[in-house]
Amino acid sequence: IADLSPAEACAVLAAATRVLPLAEGTGARELPILRGAQILSVFSEPSTRTRLSFEVAARRLGAEVVHFVQDAASSASKGESERDALQNLDAMGFDAVVVRDRRDGVPRAWTEVMRARVVNAGDGVNEHPTQALLDALTILEAFGRAPAQGAMTGLRVAVCGDVRHGRVAHSDLQLFRTLGAQCVVAGPGDLAPPELAARLGATVAPSLDEALAGADVAVMLRIQRERLGADVAIPDAASYHAAWGLTPARLRLLAPGAIVMHPGPINRGVEIADAVADGPHSRILRQVTLGVAVRMAVLARACGVELL
Ligand code: CP
Repeated sequence: IADLSPAEACAVLAAATRVLPLAEGTGARELPILRGAQILSVFSEPSTRTRLSFEVAARRLGAEVVHFVQDAASSASKGESERDALQNLDAMGFDAVVVRDRRDGVPRAWTEVMRARVVNAGDGVNEHPTQALLDALTILEAFGRAPAQGAMTGLRVAVCGDVRHGRVAHSDLQLFRTLGAQCVVAGPGDLAPPELAARLGATVAPSLDEALAGADVAVMLRIQRERLGADVAIPDAASYHAAWGLTPARLRLLAPGAIVMHPGPINRGVEIADAVADGPHSRILRQVTLGVAVRMAVLARACGVELL
């Protein structure tokens, strides 16, 4: 996310706002400014929202999406290196590549090999920058603020759960701080390390209740079980929910008018109660809709086309 200056991030958010009716399906169904463009989509880690919303975004702008998986059906099975595969894919003339990978730093490494612009759709435990952009837009929309430098000034944002392995947290905190928010994190055991929080410009609260106290925004994160070492002990779902779950009772700790967010997938009854996920504070599905708009803006930018 730090590859975008605050002004560039705001420009992306403003562009996303302009195409919002397209994302919502409330305006024209298509704005074919990327007609003829080809987007390569390379997801080697599971995804529902990010992969599909990039594809929807590309199609609404008239671009074609080609999916590539380095599996037994690809020439990786015949000994081709990843570098050679990328150079060959690049020779096919894709305009942009959207990549999700379980290894930290893969999108940046690919920029060294490929001519096409590379968009990070989530790399390991490192970052998830388009999620941060859509999360920022969700907050700005909820509080009636236009994308501008300092637009989150005066807002207290609590990011709760597995901050250590949560790439969403890493990108969110950097962007929210850049836009002026006051950020606090909380998580069980060593999943909200103080040194990481300090690097990301956040303070650490010792409990979920203290993180939520007076917060305008609660971003709930699931435990990234697929990334935990064998040495990390996580309580069973019921115990976790009692200590670290956002329940209707805990909603009362938040500031008046507060919103609840979650990047998904949500684990109901673990980090968030059904009644909260489906309740009036929840912006979880709105995040998904805004994600389509943000990814339209990101793809247009990657293809060098301005969204007017
Ligand atoms: N928020 C998010 O990255 O969801 P997916 O893993 O389903 O893409």
